[in-house]
Amino acid sequence: MDKEIEVRNICCIGAGYVGGPTMAMIAKKCPHIKVNVVDVDENRIAAWNSNDLAKLPVFEPGLEEIIASQRNINLFFSNDIDNAIKNADMVFICVNTPTKTKGLGAGYACDLKYVELCARRVSRNAHGHTVVVEKSTLPVRTAKTIKEILSSANISKDKSKINKSFSILSNPEFLAEGTAINDLEKPDRVLIGGDEVFAINALRKIYLNWVHEDKILSTNLWSSELSKLSANAFLASRISSINSLSALCEKTGADIKEVSLAIGTDSRIGSKFLKAGPGFGGSCFKKDILNLIYICRHFGLIEVANYWEKVIEINEWQKNRISQLIVRKLFGTITDKKILILGYSYKANTNDTRESPAKNIINDLLVEGAEITIHDPQVREEKIIKDLGEPSNNQNESSFNKWIYSKNLDDSFDNVDAVIILTEWDLYKNLNWESIYKKVRKPAWIFDTRLVVNKELAIKAGFRFWQLGGSHND
Ligand code: UDX
Ligand code: ADP
Repeated sequence: MDKEIEVRNICCIGAGYVGGPTMAMIAKKCPHIKVNVVDVDENRIAAWNSNDLAKLPVFEPGLEEIIASQRNINLFFSNDIDNAIKNADMVFICVNTPTKTKGLGAGYACDLKYVELCARRVSRNAHGHTVVVEKSTLPVRTAKTIKEILSSANISKDKSKINKSFSILSNPEFLAEGTAINDLEKPDRVLIGGDEVFAINALRKIYLNWVHEDKILSTNLWSSELSKLSANAFLASRISSINSLSALCEKTGADIKEVSLAIGTDSRIGSKFLKAGPGFGGSCFKKDILNLIYICRHFGLIEVANYWEKVIEINEWQKNRISQLIVRKLFGTITDKKILILGYSYKANTNDTRESPAKNIINDLLVEGAEITIHDPQVREEKIIKDLGEPSNNQNESSFNKWIYSKNLDDSFDNVDAVIILTEWDLYKNLNWESIYKKVRKPAWIFDTRLVVNKELAIKAGFRFWQLGGSHND
């Protein structure tokens, strides 16, 4: 029997980088649907409800405007999870799925505890028929676990729980942070995995409010789950490929920008995702590849697992080699040298610092005894303290956590021995190196890991200059 579901009320569990922007877009495009975004984290919900839009927990260009126009109209943020589930025709699961740190699969497998908690909560509180949509990145066959938990609602002894039923869909999110609003508004594709046509249609109908039908693909549940992992693994492997070649460029006199351009003009390769850098970060790439490796090992596909493991190894190696070469160039010792770090987020236009290469590189330099100043236009000091620990004010020699947060970029160059660019924020692209050179301690270095500095201008100003994948590094 083919039923039809008209979705009027959505509950999204998880008000993070995926849940927040995705639900904001649905609310904007579907004024007839009430969207409730819920989370266990009270501070996060308070921040989403803040009158000061600069305090939203997620910085994403274009997001503030949508929040301003939809919030408390058809988009609501709250901690009342149970009621939001109760009233929903469709529940999106957008909670975090970190890599397990202990137990079976530690270091590789995804920790599904939050997803499982959500499924149990949905199972307890849902009414009538509810479509449950997995949006978090999950291991293949997670839908099976969710289905089992949900179906247990119907075999409960508690009679009040009997009149409920569920459909489960996988609808992975492909948005990239920093461009999330554009990615949501004009997606390359929307993927819906499921085995019940009426449930797929209910979700498809929501997207049809702004996405052309040709861009909405449906697959079985497992293909959809695996496609998300595969897409991220493919993208990450491109970055490891180009980064591995950046090191070869430095040795051979080739220039990685020229090589990227030359290979990217081959339409089979394409020009996107070929920028060499300090290594990929973000919450997805490493976690998803580790997950893929875990699944491959589980099924005895050792060579396949080893193949993907190399993508991560190159990424770690790239970060290490950058910190090592900085120490070498600064005469082999950076103890008490002043180093200014420009950029802490894992990429521009986001305040997210998860897996940011900046963390590894800064940690290495701190261990070597450097005094570090960190500037980032969006990452707050509290977040950096969480990563690096409280900065040490104790200037004695045994202290190895000498970092300070820069509140004002212009004042941060005084007496520094080196400036290291780790995130490609626009703000760092047109700095006046000539006037900056007057403030630094000579000889001073620029280390540009994001290829944003004009080499000629930097050298003309007097700096010694190193650029990732560059042919001219002295
Ligand atoms: C990624 C996927 O792109 C997205 O589809 C998925 O939903 C989540 O994971 P995200 O991590 O937000 O998105 O950003 P992305 O733009 O993919 O960048 C990831 C990392 O790769 C960043 O650290 C970025 O600096 C780096 N990168 C990206 C490069 O070093 N070079 C490139 O050419 C592109
Ligand atoms: P992502 O990048 O996947 O969106 P985030 O960490 O930014 O990840 O957001 C995930 C959100 O999910 C967090 O705000 C977290 O508090 C929330 N969360 C985790 N577990 C639960 C749960 N069981 N119920 C409700 N919210 C949860």
